[in-house]
This record gives sequence, C-alpha cells and structure tokens, in this order.
Amino acid sequence: MSTIAAAPTPTGTAPVLEVTDLVVRYGRGGRNAPAAVDRVSLRIAPGETVGLVGESGSGKTTIGKAILGLTRVAGGSIRYGGRDITHAGPRERRSLGGELRAIFQDPFSSLNPRRTIGASLAEPLRIQGIPAGEALQRARDMLESVGLPAEAVSRYPRQFSGGQRQRIAVARALITQPELVICDEPVSSLDLSTQAQVLNLLADLRADRGLSYLFIAHDIAVVSFLAQRVVVLYRGQVMESGPSREVTENPRHPFTQALTAASPVPRPAEQAERRARREASGVKPAGIVDTAGVGCPFANRCPLATELCRTERPALRALGGAEVACHYATE
Ligand SMILES: Nc1ncnc2c1ncn2[C@@H]1O[C@H](COP(=O)(O)OP(=O)(O)OP(=O)(O)O)[C@@H](O)[C@H]1O
Ligand code: SF4
Ligand SMILES: [Mg+2]
Repeated sequence: MSTIAAAPTPTGTAPVLEVTDLVVRYGRGGRNAPAAVDRVSLRIAPGETVGLVGESGSGKTTIGKAILGLTRVAGGSIRYGGRDITHAGPRERRSLGGELRAIFQDPFSSLNPRRTIGASLAEPLRIQGIPAGEALQRARDMLESVGLPAEAVSRYPRQFSGGQRQRIAVARALITQPELVICDEPVSSLDLSTQAQVLNLLADLRADRGLSYLFIAHDIAVVSFLAQRVVVLYRGQVMESGPSREVTENPRHPFTQALTAASPVPRPAEQAERRARREASGVKPAGIVDTAGVGCPFANRCPLATELCRTERPALRALGGAEVACHYATE
C-alpha cells in the first residue's frame, strides 16, 4: 500500500475516502462484460456524510462492496486516509483495524442468530485482541448508546423487533470506533416512524463521534435527511452530484428531477402536485431501457433526448454548486 497525500476536499481537508473512476464488472467477458459501476468518483471529508442514491440495480451496493473489499475492482482507485486500498487483500484490510465498518439493510446478515448479542458485538473487538471481559463491557456501553438496555447482551437477535435489531447492527458497526461507516439501505426495511428513529440515532452518533458516512438509499428524501452532499447514480454512472439542498431543491438532471418527483412525501397535496409535475415532464417509467450502451444512459427514458444524447456520453460539468452529466442541463 502506498501513502500519498490526497487532493483536498471542497472544505480544504484531506478526504477520508477518495474513489476515482471506479469500474466494477460482473460475470465473464473480461473488459467486454457490462460495467455495473462505470467510472464513478466520489470523496468524503472527515465528519461528512455523502448520500448515494439511485434506482434498484443502479450499482449502489456494488460501490459499497468495492470500498469494503468485497468485490473485485476492474478499474479506477479507492483511497482510504491517503492509502491505496483498491486491491488490498484480507491481511491489508485487517491492518485498517475497525476504522472502516458497514451497516446493511438486513441486520440478520450481520448478526448470527445462534449467538448472543453480547458475543456478536464483542467479536470485532476480540479480533483486535481486546480481552473478553473488556469487550463485553464495551458491548454493554455501546448498547446503551443506541438506546437499548445493557442486559440485551445475553439475549438473541430473534428476541428483538426489526428496529431494535437495526440498532444492534449500528452498535456492532460502531463498537470499534470507526472513522467511516458504509450504511447500505439501513432503514429501508423499517416502517416510517422506526425509520425516523434510526435516522435520528445515526445523526446523533455522527455528531458525538465525528463520524463520516457513505449513506446509500433509493429514496432521495431519506438520503438528503442525513447527507451534506448527494451523488445520484443511474445504471452505474453518476448523473449529478452536489450539496444536498442544491440537488434536491434545484435538480438539474432530468433523472434527478424524476427522482425528486417520485420520492414519497407525507403530505397528499404535495404528492399530487409532484405527480402532476412528473407527468408533465414526460419522463418515461422505469423498465424502458437503453440497449445501445453508448451515449447518455438515460436517453431512452428522457423527454429531452436528441441524436447527440444517443451517440455521445455527456461528461460531468459544473453547474451552479453541482456537477451534472447532461448535454442540455442549465443553471
Ligand atoms: N454478484 C453479482 N453477480 C452478477 N451481477 C451482479 C451481482 N451483484 C449485483 N449485480 C448486478 O449489478 C448491478 C448493480 O447491482 P447493485 O446490487 O449494486 O444495485 P443497487 O443499486 O444496490 O440495487 P438495490 O437498490 O436493488 O439494492 C445490477 O444490474 C445487478 O444485477
Ligand atoms: S444528455 Fe440528453 S438524454 Fe441524457 S439526460 Fe441530458 S437531455 Fe436527457
Ligand atoms: Mg443495493
């Protein structure tokens, strides 16, 4: 692993995470296999939350897995704290200690149903060589930090509700005092009021501990609740990125406009207005896909598409405070 100084983030500090031109391909075909992630770049500053939003299948989880070293990277680079971890093996990953952690949609995937909560929470600490008694005490303290009783250490995952299990998953991710947490749809399986509780918990823990998050979700409203900056993905490519307010209140890319119009809102009147806006925009529903593989990936669903859009991939360019990949987007 080499250590070189990373370029500063917009706030002037060195990024915790810097992903540059990331490419991930699945299946056979080598360089000819279609890219699930196609030249994606993003940076996260210390204490910053970056939201990654897009439809199902757009490559969000794949980006998270590449950062965590759980899938092979075909191109580009991933730097964590200035270190190149793009192709880091398990041993090099372990040397990162508990600095880089993850929370997934289904807490059952991170909590072994046959182990007590205490054993599951202590495990990442035991791997770091922390004695059993101390690890268990830290598990008890961590459970209290996420709003659960310390006695939960002696119980099993099935004895908790979905929301409580997700709190336990948060506790397990944070027990090693990480710098960066990859949150992949951490509230998508929860009902609305439990979603709000877990989102508030993540916000409080971030404030207390100065954490950085990469927060992945398909709902732009959920993402923008926590994230200072948002990256909008469509079929493995970045369509738009920028400050959350900028992207949600003044979406410049036709896909982001469709996404903000589609995001569920609690007030029916606002929902009806959004639906009317979406219908007026002429954006075609999901499912109509471009098979050409060149040009703008959104061309077959975009009401503004021209011949240029079908033949030339639009580069990301600065517009206002955001970056937008559309030939025709304006400030
Ligand atoms: N292990 C795999 N093998 C082959 N293809 C895969 C694999 N994992 C994901 N893909 C494909 O890669 C693309 C991106 O998948 P990914 O899971 O990253 O999407 P996502 O944005 O997380 O979607 P969702 O919102 O449904 O979780 C999809 O077309 C998917 O079918
Ligand atoms: S580049 Fe063309 S097809 Fe793509 S989003 Fe812009 S107008 Fe639509
Ligand atoms: Mg996913």
